[in-house]
Amino acid sequence: MTRKKSPINDLDLSRWREYDDVITDSLWLIPERDRSGAHLADYHGNFVPQIPRQAIQRFTKKGDVVLDAFLGSGTTLIECRRLGRNGIGLELNDERAKIARRRISSEKNPDKIKTRVVNSNSSDLKHTPKRISKALAGIGREKAQLVMLHPPYHSIIRFSDQDGDLSNCPNVDTFVEKFGNVVDVVTPFLEDDRYLVLVIGDMYERGEWIPLSYFCMQQVLERGYKLKSIVVKDMQGNRAKRNLKNIWRYRALAGGFYIFKHEYVMFFRKAE
Ligand SMILES: C[S@@+](CC[C@H](N)C(=O)[O-])C[C@H]1O[C@@H](n2cnc3c(N)ncnc32)[C@H](O)[C@@H]1O
Repeated sequence: MTRKKSPINDLDLSRWREYDDVITDSLWLIPERDRSGAHLADYHGNFVPQIPRQAIQRFTKKGDVVLDAFLGSGTTLIECRRLGRNGIGLELNDERAKIARRRISSEKNPDKIKTRVVNSNSSDLKHTPKRISKALAGIGREKAQLVMLHPPYHSIIRFSDQDGDLSNCPNVDTFVEKFGNVVDVVTPFLEDDRYLVLVIGDMYERGEWIPLSYFCMQQVLERGYKLKSIVVKDMQGNRAKRNLKNIWRYRALAGGFYIFKHEYVMFFRKAE
């Protein structure tokens, strides 16, 4: 059988039955986080490595470049090493960026791909584009083929007290505006027709459900992207939260709300 190859990944569609590990449903139930290798899972607010892995497998080829604008502990770039993709990660917090650099370099690099961690504010339209250009030039490229965005879910976790930190925005409107700036910063570096993946959850404030995911989705759509999928991913509570299960159940019954058990992984395609 002739090999049918999709231009944005290395999947051989004539062997589609063999790709059991590639998810194609819009409900992701991931009971166990991958804790192997450099994935130490000790950063509060990191995503499970399976999220970037799924996106990288579906929407990039070996040797492509992945740009993550909220690198945190480096999960995306560790996956890049495993899957043979180059990676650039932006992180505002200097100390966090250093830890990520160490973690990433401790992961095996069988394909000798290049990774760069850039200590920068992703919503800074003046300075960050130059830094991204420089990082891309350092790996001999001009564009990325996949953008990953896993911003703070506004103030749910305060990552630092730095001004530019999106988790420090004084209100939801400012958070959404700054998130829009991030999309403006990364968009010129994403090759046309390629994917931007947004991982985000909603929040509860003063008795009201705040649909951060919806607001951020609008920011991406307003910049001409096409929505390809909205995935609902289950959120497993940490041990502390699990111990408080009964309290939360009581609060939910008393307060007329539902307890968050999911977040979203949204897939957009950059129009040509
Ligand atoms: C939800 S975490 C991302 C976690 C990451 N996906 C991981 O697996 O470790 C958000 C990260 O964005 C960083 N951050 C917040 N505001 C930022 C900004 N304006 N520019 C760059 N990074 C920022 C925070 O320091 C935090 O590490």
